[in-house]
Amino acid sequence: MPPKSDTEFFTQVRAPANIAWVKYWGKKGPQLPANPSLSMTLKECATLTELSATPATQLKVELFFDGAREESFEAKTAKYIESVGQLYPALNSFHYRIETQNTFPHSSGIASSASSQAALALALSQLLRSVGVNLSRHDVGSMARLGSGSACRSLEGGLVVWGETEALKESSDLYATRLKHGVHPEFASVRDTIMVVSSEVKEVSSRAGHGHMNEHPFKAARYRQANQNFSDMLEGLKAGDWQKVGELMETEALSLHAMLMTGGAGHVLLAPGSLEIIRLVRLFRKESGLPLYFTIDAGPNIHLMYPESAWAKVDPFIRHELLRLTEKGQSAIWDSMGEQGAV
Ligand code: PMV
Repeated sequence: MPPKSDTEFFTQVRAPANIAWVKYWGKKGPQLPANPSLSMTLKECATLTELSATPATQLKVELFFDGAREESFEAKTAKYIESVGQLYPALNSFHYRIETQNTFPHSSGIASSASSQAALALALSQLLRSVGVNLSRHDVGSMARLGSGSACRSLEGGLVVWGETEALKESSDLYATRLKHGVHPEFASVRDTIMVVSSEVKEVSSRAGHGHMNEHPFKAARYRQANQNFSDMLEGLKAGDWQKVGELMETEALSLHAMLMTGGAGHVLLAPGSLEIIRLVRLFRKESGLPLYFTIDAGPNIHLMYPESAWAKVDPFIRHELLRLTEKGQSAIWDSMGEQGAV
């Protein structure tokens, strides 16, 4: 949509989704992670956002998702812009019209908060630039983080780290950084085929789930484990060791679900189909010797991770043996490692 008048600002941005190999689950302070996380940025799954802003005396947000007005998101988005407006007051005097859509199906059950919040932060940084406030890349990351923690990782491409850790000196709790050095070429191009087992809205929000970690009986052990898994995974990535990295990502996924099952009201988000996919993936790995591993977000869908080099054998296995276990027997998304969000 082109700008309607000279005073109207307009920008178009695209931000990718990401999937964590070491999970962020539990917060401290102002949306800071309780442990370091490591993720892969996706190529195809992304949010496209168009933002127009007209100078106004009071902040107002009109939000459209897939062309339809989404009043339920408007108050939340206005609250977010207001909170960022404490850092950048210029943001408080606009009337916003935000049009957003995802490249992945609306009901695929893929978390869209990372890509949508990253896209919004990118768009707001462009608006600020137009009024003479230039944000650094890290400032934009911090801004995305305040919307959804994992969103800051979508502002970087490839393999991305968020959360301060002694294992990596450039790491920060405030923003994410791309893992540039020490990644073996084996991990330069990774595929992620997402098995959409169910597209139903999950029964526990990530905000509530993070909250349950505060009182979780296994909290200390989980944070110790996450830190250890993080530094072991860095070693595996450096050595090009798919077995090490793959086994760690599976442990991380299952630990996230163990925390979900044993915290709060006890949330079982995995479905029978998810468990059957896990069983078949492990069997395939044993029989073929190929590096096919899984990770899972806070839901029933299974992300299958494998190197480009294994594609010719893994792809037919997925289509013939696993696809039938997805929603309607045909719900999968073929994705791979991608680059960061851009204007
Ligand atoms: O960014 P949030 O608040 O939606 O939390 C994301 C949490 C997980 O997706 C479960 C794990 C992660 O590190 O992405």
